[in-house]
This record gives sequence, C-alpha cells and structure tokens, in this order.
Amino acid sequence: MKKIFAANWKLFKTPKETQQFFNEWNKLNFPKDRTFIFFPPALCLSTAIESAKGTVLEFGCQNCASDLQGALTGENSVLAVKDLGAKYVLVGHSERRTLFSESDDFVAKKIKLVQEQSLIPMLCVGETWTERQAGRTNEVLRKQLLIGLSLADKIKEVILAYEPVWAIGTGQVAQAHQVEEAHKSIKSILAEMGFPSETPILYGGSVKPENSKELITVPAVDGFLVGGASLTIESFSKICAV
Ligand code: PGA
Repeated sequence: MKKIFAANWKLFKTPKETQQFFNEWNKLNFPKDRTFIFFPPALCLSTAIESAKGTVLEFGCQNCASDLQGALTGENSVLAVKDLGAKYVLVGHSERRTLFSESDDFVAKKIKLVQEQSLIPMLCVGETWTERQAGRTNEVLRKQLLIGLSLADKIKEVILAYEPVWAIGTGQVAQAHQVEEAHKSIKSILAEMGFPSETPILYGGSVKPENSKELITVPAVDGFLVGGASLTIESFSKICAV
C-alpha cells in the first residue's frame, strides 16, 4: 500500500501564501510510491487545486456540514468540495470535537454524507491524556469508531487517523510502542466491524522531520497527518521524503 502523507494546515495561510507554497513545492520530486494530500483552509482550497494542476497532489477540506445544503451559515458544502476537484474531507478532528462540540453521532452523519458524494472521509480518533492515564485508550477508540463509522458504507473507502489529543500541537509525540498498540487496536476494531483490512491508518500528533523516520517504520502505520510541520516546505518535504 502507498504510504499517505497528509498536511492539515488548520487556520494558516491565505490564498496568496498557498499559491507561493505550491509554486515552490511543485519543483520538488518525491518517490512515486506515496500519496500526498493537502487540507488547506476552505477559502484556499480552490487556489491550492489550481496551483497544483497537473501534479499528483490530492486535496481535501478540513471540515464539512452534515447536510448537503440548507440554511447553515458559514458551513462548507460537500457539493462545493467535490465541484472544486477535492477528494477528501477531514472528519472528527479533535479540534472540531473539543472547540466545536462535535459528537460521535454528528461525525457519523458527516461520514455518511461525504461517502454518498463519492468523497473519501478521513476520520480522526484519539484519546485525551486523562483518558490514557486512566487506562481508557482502547475504550475511547472503540466508541469513536463504533459510533463514528456506524453509518459508513464498508464497500467505500475511508481513511483513519490516530491522533492522540495530548500529542496534537504539543510537541509531545507518542512513542513508537504507544502508536503501534493504538494502531493495532484500531485495526482489530475495524476488522470486527467488517471494514477491509487494507483501510489505511495514519498517525498524527507532533510529527516532525526528527521523529518521522522512526514512526514511519512502526507496524500498522500507513502514513502521517501533519499539522504544524506541514506549514513550511522545509519541514514537510523532509517528512514526505522519509
Ligand atoms: P500537529 O497537528 O502535527 O501540529 O500536532 C496534527 C493535527 O492536528 O492533525
């Protein structure tokens, strides 16, 4: 399976900065056996796709509404995401769960909608530090997967991202054995639920050029979802070249 390197730009970069990034990024060469996905802010998605025309780069939206259309001021439409030529939607990122109170049921609704529009959801799951300390990591992952994927079509693609909340943007990266354990547990829950064994599981949380070499070799790690370190060409290109 091709390793996946995904960039989550969160609320960083303007369209102009997006264009500048890809003007430089497009000059680089990476091994052919990998997939690169960029999640720019929604207002930069169109510029990103235009700036990378003719390349192998793929794109996604960081969030979408749970309804196809309607009176939902400020939301992102999956129809628009599809129309722009993006392929993925990030669903259930911990920042959406904590800052915007998104529940597992809400996540499930979005995943269904994304798949119905022939887009691929990238579902983020992960425990907080308190949950890990209390020995509840597996229980939390199980609940997020069972409910989050309850309306998903198992025949259609879905990508998982294991992102321990305590490792996101904190510089505190999970250790290889913790990542391996969590990925294996996610794999077995997915199998129990009837999802294909080749469903990719990415790791996310303070991935940097310095730790990416070790983490990419961890069994059951199919790639990375990178936040902070994906914002500069210097650091993200090193991660993508591991
Ligand atoms: P980080 O973010 O790499 O900055 O920790 C990862 C993410 O939130 O997807």
